[in-house]
Amino acid sequence: MNSCPSRSATSGTNKAPARSARESNDAPSTSTSRPTSVPPTAAATSDASNLTLRNGTVGAVSGDRIHLVVLFGGQSAEHEVSCTTAAHVLAAVDQTRYRITPVGISTDGEWSLATDAIAALARGPHMLPSRLDPHGDRLAPSTMLGEAVDGPERTVVLPLLHGPMGEDGTVQGMLELANVAYVGAGVLGSALAMDKAMAKQVLAAAGLPQARFRAFPEREVRPGLPAELAAELGLPCFVKPANMGSSVGVTKAKTVEALRDAIDHALTYDEWILVEEAIVGREIEVAVIGNDDPFVSVPGEIIPGDDFYSYDDKYVNDTSIGLVPAPLTPQQVADVRAITLAVYRALRCGGLARCDFFFEEEGRGFLCNEVNTMPGFTPISMFPKMLIASGMTYPEIIDRLVELALDRNAHRRRNTKH
Ligand SMILES: Nc1ncnc2c1ncn2[C@@H]1O[C@H](COP(=O)(O)OP(=O)(O)O)[C@@H](O)[C@H]1O
Ligand SMILES: [Mg+2]
Repeated sequence: MNSCPSRSATSGTNKAPARSARESNDAPSTSTSRPTSVPPTAAATSDASNLTLRNGTVGAVSGDRIHLVVLFGGQSAEHEVSCTTAAHVLAAVDQTRYRITPVGISTDGEWSLATDAIAALARGPHMLPSRLDPHGDRLAPSTMLGEAVDGPERTVVLPLLHGPMGEDGTVQGMLELANVAYVGAGVLGSALAMDKAMAKQVLAAAGLPQARFRAFPEREVRPGLPAELAAELGLPCFVKPANMGSSVGVTKAKTVEALRDAIDHALTYDEWILVEEAIVGREIEVAVIGNDDPFVSVPGEIIPGDDFYSYDDKYVNDTSIGLVPAPLTPQQVADVRAITLAVYRALRCGGLARCDFFFEEEGRGFLCNEVNTMPGFTPISMFPKMLIASGMTYPEIIDRLVELALDRNAHRRRNTKH
């Protein structure tokens, strides 16, 4: 899944999601739109006397505080994005409401208390670096989970992890078994959205619009397949590993030979492959926040700087442009928001997601490309930009996600109790 931060031009406000107990699509605004950056504009305080360093964590002493465990780093290609996102989230979190434990996961999968981040946070949120170091004192996941369950406070885990082994239901399953509340989609929603082949099949079953495609495992690859796919889907076409992100392994194949090579290349990342017709259209993104009655943001638009929105375009060349809001007519906005809600529900999403579309203006309209259940989350990422343009502030987004995590956890437990 792509969780790339993009350069964005944010303007205008729209209907705002409320920070009420229930999500709403038409609740009145509780704040005005404003950009957020490090140093934070949150209510976090740098008054050392208001902070405590206990068990290596930081936060204010208060009867009703929440213990927020921020998981970041991880083993996927999007490790770095996660470390940057975590720095911004920590800087924006209101330490009078949360005790914060940043837990880093190295690219090798080792968990640690992020000691440098903890020390910096204790000196004040403005002391945080722009990227958190995920290393520190080793920490077994079971220790973290045990403390979360047995501790005196309500604990919420914020898994700021992108891609495989983080956004795909694995971490979510561990947290579910431990009965720890966590931000974002559950096991099924995370796994479905992560696997592009399964997501496509679910969206097809729900009758939702998307590019024509074929999905197949490695064992079905045979010499005649590329020509067959080219005849069926046309050239050029797009070849992708089913489970990846950041455009890694994605190729725009212009010939049958290139299609054959692209399949081989994608197979180095996953054993399931997706081949899609190439869509000629604009790239539109929409942010969603909520559980049963989610809020759908104003849409944004990505204008790739490359032939398509490639890895280099996202991370190396910085040539793409993000526009928030997207220049669309009110009817087009209504259309894409309605499809977004249907997609979010079909894929059993929860908490948050960024739904990405192609827009064939003269053709089929909005076609769903993919859903990211943990999108990039720095203040310049599309996900917060679209919610900020819809009337939320960056700290409010975090507060809302924590509320949603607690709500969902309470419901899950009610469902499983005998
Ligand atoms: N079917 C398609 N038609 C046109 N462009 C596509 C298609 N599929 C992917 N792309 C281009 O490739 C980019 C990355 O593909 P995507 O499926 O979003 O993978 P990732 O999960 O790695 O972001 C898209 O943002 C878009 O620019
Ligand atoms: Mg993408």
